[in-house]
Amino acid sequence: MELNVIGTGYLGAAHAAGMASLGHDVTGVDTDRGRVGTLNAGRAFFHEPGLDELLREGTATGVLRFSTDPAAPAGHGNVHFLAVGTPQERGSYRADTGSLDAVVDALVPHLSGAHLLVGKSTVPVGTAQRLQHRVDRILRETGSSARVTVCWCPEFLREGHAVEDTLHPDRIVLGLPELPEDAAAEVEAVIREIYARPLAGDATHRPAPLLVTDLATAELVKVSANAFLAMKVSYINAVGEVCEAAGADVAVLARAIGMDGRIGPEFLRAGLGYGGGCLPKDIRAFMARAGELGADEVLTMLREVDTVNLRRREKMMALVRDSFGGAVSGHRVTVLGAAFKPDSDDVRDSPALQVAGALNLAGAQVTVYDPVAVDNARRLFPTLRYASSLEAALVGAEAVVVATEWKEFRDADPAVARELVSRPVIFDGRNCLPSGSWTDAGWVYRGMGRCVS
Ligand code: UDX
Repeated sequence: MELNVIGTGYLGAAHAAGMASLGHDVTGVDTDRGRVGTLNAGRAFFHEPGLDELLREGTATGVLRFSTDPAAPAGHGNVHFLAVGTPQERGSYRADTGSLDAVVDALVPHLSGAHLLVGKSTVPVGTAQRLQHRVDRILRETGSSARVTVCWCPEFLREGHAVEDTLHPDRIVLGLPELPEDAAAEVEAVIREIYARPLAGDATHRPAPLLVTDLATAELVKVSANAFLAMKVSYINAVGEVCEAAGADVAVLARAIGMDGRIGPEFLRAGLGYGGGCLPKDIRAFMARAGELGADEVLTMLREVDTVNLRRREKMMALVRDSFGGAVSGHRVTVLGAAFKPDSDDVRDSPALQVAGALNLAGAQVTVYDPVAVDNARRLFPTLRYASSLEAALVGAEAVVVATEWKEFRDADPAVARELVSRPVIFDGRNCLPSGSWTDAGWVYRGMGRCVS
């Protein structure tokens, strides 16, 4: 099928490349010339394992191309995925859906015939219906005879696993507007054709289930899934606070409760908490929308999830400060990790970078090392010192904070590291190091939510 993907950020670039790899002919559209140039050269402009290969393959075989022309999709098939960003609005908790409006305004006047706008972006409930009204108004005002339907098919991909999640989604949710039965069946048939391969499954992947629902439910599925994941992380971090007070070990506790099939082991890693471009802003946007809808009770719970999460960053600051007798000023602290999670160079709302910045503001001499996120980190925090290798970062450190659980840090040799630092004190902000090996090598080890030393 001929498909268009409008917006080629973390989500759109992976989606466009994934759709091409699933056998479709894809045009990706973005207003950013630099991004489009890089993608057309067969490369991602961010770190995402496996994505360069898909982009190279798609652009080389001619089934994938990127354009800055907002009208390009009008002459290329009639399915248009909307994958633009919906960041937190300045000065509020709401999601800013202005980019979706801009896409509709730029595209709809160029359409004739029947078209499907398939929303992928994470949006406040009610957005799809609002966009449909906007589309209808444009069609009316321009006297167009085009028929344009907005449906919503939220994206659940994780950064660092974007290729696998796009090619083999664990579920596909399709939100439909109120339509006559045959028109609804037509839209569903289009989506089934697009996702024919994942819906069929293969030797190593079970067929993905397709859940067809209304627009509001589809929009809420995505937001509430992310809020639930955030809640799970904050729950285990809150329990971690009790563990610290009681002298218990949250890592062992999480393993034990995760063995209960009803709880499950995922998203129970206590530590510095969640960050990134999705969970923090999605939970806030959910709060804002729930408030607007008068569903105030849920607000209290979501606010606490956010508060517990932010408290972890302060806790790490306090741990480092205490280790220096109350003030970090003048001390050399190395922060390992800048990305919000491993296998990503995304530093948006990164707990790692926030801790590094806060230590710096408190007067510490901070050195940051990250295997891939240093360039992005430098743009956000130009005043920090960045090292080009793990070894260089450790030289002379009086305290080391592991803030992102990169494999390179998990596998580091504590004996070698011991020789490089001037004071062997390590704070494991992700509870990812083998604590015994580090203490055996002479380090003072401090995890989060666990009294292991
Ligand atoms: C998330 C959702 O998982 C994905 O489905 C959605 O489409 C986008 O948002 P992502 O932002 O890529 O994906 O990151 P995710 O893997 O969910 O991790 C989010 C944050 O939670 C990271 O900062 C991670 O370090 C943290 N986390 C995760 C924990 O602190 N503990 C855990 O146990 C799991």
